[in-house]
Amino acid sequence: MEKIPVTIPYFDEKEAENVKKVLESGWVAQGPVVASFEKAISAHEQIGYGVAATSCTTALHLAMAASGMTAGMDALAPAFTFVATTNAIVQTGATPVLVDICQETFNIDPRQIEAVIDRDYQERDGRWYNQKTGNLLWGIVPVHEFGLCCDILEVNRIANRYHLQVIEDAACALGAKIGDTHQGGFGNTSCISFHPRKSITTGEGGMVLTDDAALAKRMKELRTHGSTVSADARHAGKGFLLPEHNEAGYNYRMTDIQAAVGMAQVDKLDDIIREKRRRAARYDRMIADTLPEFVTPYVPEGYFHTYQSYVCLLNLNALHLDSIKAGGEYRNRLLQKLEDVGIATRQGTHAIHLLGYYKNRFQYIPEDFPNAYACDHLSITLPLYVQMSDADQEYVVQTIRKTIDQG
Ligand SMILES: Cc1ncc(COP(=O)(O)O)c(C=O)c1O
Repeated sequence: MEKIPVTIPYFDEKEAENVKKVLESGWVAQGPVVASFEKAISAHEQIGYGVAATSCTTALHLAMAASGMTAGMDALAPAFTFVATTNAIVQTGATPVLVDICQETFNIDPRQIEAVIDRDYQERDGRWYNQKTGNLLWGIVPVHEFGLCCDILEVNRIANRYHLQVIEDAACALGAKIGDTHQGGFGNTSCISFHPRKSITTGEGGMVLTDDAALAKRMKELRTHGSTVSADARHAGKGFLLPEHNEAGYNYRMTDIQAAVGMAQVDKLDDIIREKRRRAARYDRMIADTLPEFVTPYVPEGYFHTYQSYVCLLNLNALHLDSIKAGGEYRNRLLQKLEDVGIATRQGTHAIHLLGYYKNRFQYIPEDFPNAYACDHLSITLPLYVQMSDADQEYVVQTIRKTIDQG
């Protein structure tokens, strides 16, 4: 039986060579290779500064904490995203407030942002406060889901109008663009992930990107226990006293071992994205020809999708199903049958309001965010990776066709 994973990272001998050099150097914690990796990623995205972290989750928390998000504040976030987006907000002590998405793009719906603010907040001295809790509306954490930028220009316009900050969750979107501008280049801080399901990987890892030199400096201190001196600078210098700590920071340091992998990966990034886009276009054509039960990913004019994941939606009409619940049950049966014949697929991502912690804390019901609910139940991620062959792709699409026909 063929085995097709949902994704696999793309390595050659360069990653191991780089790691060997770091091991031989004797310095394996955060040091010069992390600094080089920060420069390489920020240069690729055409942003001033990169601040590496242990994951995108910690990068998000670091960026939020350094930007002043804290208890007594609200942050708006899409209702359909990986749970790390809202967990990071919770970790600052602030309250995540969900906003529904557009089903076409899987991204936050700017019209819904304004609707939520107009419905739940009132203005006082130019700032907006939650009418029920009194919380200050701090800002928005939009997500560039699956490698497609959200409508960040519209999000920025709303943020200006209501005096809000924006931190972009670009975990999946390294290399994504609108026109010639990369994610993170629209005037906000953004955070990316190097988890193995992303375009390039460091095992685990993340990075904050910003053009704000002062913010970058503050985040570098906060990620190393609030220390005023980095660990490698301290070891390189003379003296025996520990540095000053003016803040209670974190240990969110990426290691040079991870960054060594990252340095080899970043050289492959453009090729990986090019190949994934080529395979995605091939899926688009194959699905249009043979699978009317699937809706392929939508890409707005001028957007550059990197296809971190290739995510389709089930077409309920084509399947003669009359509810999202029935669609979800059908989707799960289909994905199980594919798994039984060696094809790994996944639900796109989850609706936050259906997850235990959030459902219980905020007493949500599925209908609170109908688009997120639909995408939670009807989304399907198909296998996509550089090493995939034409035959693998045909096997995936033909097996889905056969499985649907068999009922
Ligand atoms: C939208 C989004 N945000 C945040 C994360 C968290 O990234 P990490 O695993 O690097 O912490 C992910 C990971 O899948 C994600 O998809």
